[in-house]
Amino acid sequence: MEKVAIFGSGRVGETTAQLLAEQELCREVVLVDVREDVPQGVALDVAQTAPFFGFDTRVQGSNDPEAISGADLVVVTAGLPRKPGMSRSDVLQVNVEILDGIVADVKRFAPDSILLVVSNPVDVLTYRAWQLTGWDRGRVLGQAGVLDSSRMASFLAMETGFSARDITTIVLGGHGDTMVPLARYCTINGIPVSHFVSSERMEEIIERTRNGGAEILALRKLSSAYDAPGAAVATMVDAISHDRRRLLPCVALLQGEYGEQDLAMGVPCVLAKGGLEKVVELALNEQEARQFAASVAAVRADIARLI
Ligand SMILES: NC(=O)c1ccc[n+]([C@@H]2O[C@H](COP(=O)([O-])OP(=O)(O)OC[C@H]3O[C@@H](n4cnc5c(N)ncnc54)[C@H](O)[C@@H]3O)[C@@H](O)[C@H]2O)c1
Repeated sequence: MEKVAIFGSGRVGETTAQLLAEQELCREVVLVDVREDVPQGVALDVAQTAPFFGFDTRVQGSNDPEAISGADLVVVTAGLPRKPGMSRSDVLQVNVEILDGIVADVKRFAPDSILLVVSNPVDVLTYRAWQLTGWDRGRVLGQAGVLDSSRMASFLAMETGFSARDITTIVLGGHGDTMVPLARYCTINGIPVSHFVSSERMEEIIERTRNGGAEILALRKLSSAYDAPGAAVATMVDAISHDRRRLLPCVALLQGEYGEQDLAMGVPCVLAKGGLEKVVELALNEQEARQFAASVAAVRADIARLI
């Protein structure tokens, strides 16, 4: 990929820029932020890590949205993060306003790009971005499940003592308290996780995964999570930029899959060079289907607040 633009040079935007440059996932990264001088400063700081990591990716910062011109992919991390005690839905109104302005800029300056939404509440904002662009759903997606799955995998690595790289997890649903971690599909190098972890401990790990963001926010106090979120975004950009056809949980516009439509939320997707290539449908058991339905209801309730 030639150029990736990132709206928001805050914590998640900066981490994402660093990883995209470090891994040379594109030739140019442009950070755009409304705060005067800040994206330029962040870009310089990231650019100056090039001698350590040996990358040639150019990193620029700007306050002018026109700087995204020609971007192949646009990542949206602009917006207010929640504060301790707040839910992701509590920042909906302010972040919708920010997103609306950004989508107008993207349509104007990068009309052929793929749009990857990170700002919260990510399911609602991805839906909003899809509505406003009028683009094919393959070009408008959101990041949530890659992060939530990585949290679950980390907790399972801590629990079992096995390498995190051998652990496969998948978390579906909305990016909030109603997310649906699928224990049945978790494996440790192909072996079902139930071989190593009791169902009682698994329930505790699932609960900790659901509260993964809130746990970090409560501990960090002045900031929500950004290291793992940035890595999750970079993983999705890598899949698209290398046309890997990776199967990853993404926030996708549902068009009949899982019996739902006119809604965006976390489902397994194939990510390839054009963006989201397809949504993969899993047969959910009764308990998973019930949890998925509760998640659908929560996301729909937030979407209803848009109108
Ligand atoms: N989807 C996920 O998994 C996930 C994970 C972590 C954080 N988030 C979300 O990502 C967002 C950013 O989090 P953060 O910790 O980086 O916050 P932050 O406050 O560090 O950074 C946000 C940045 O957005 C900028 N901004 C505001 N309006 C803008 C506009 N119109 N154009 C360009 N930039 C603008 C701000 O100036 C700020 O620099 C939040 O909404 C947070 O909830 C999502």
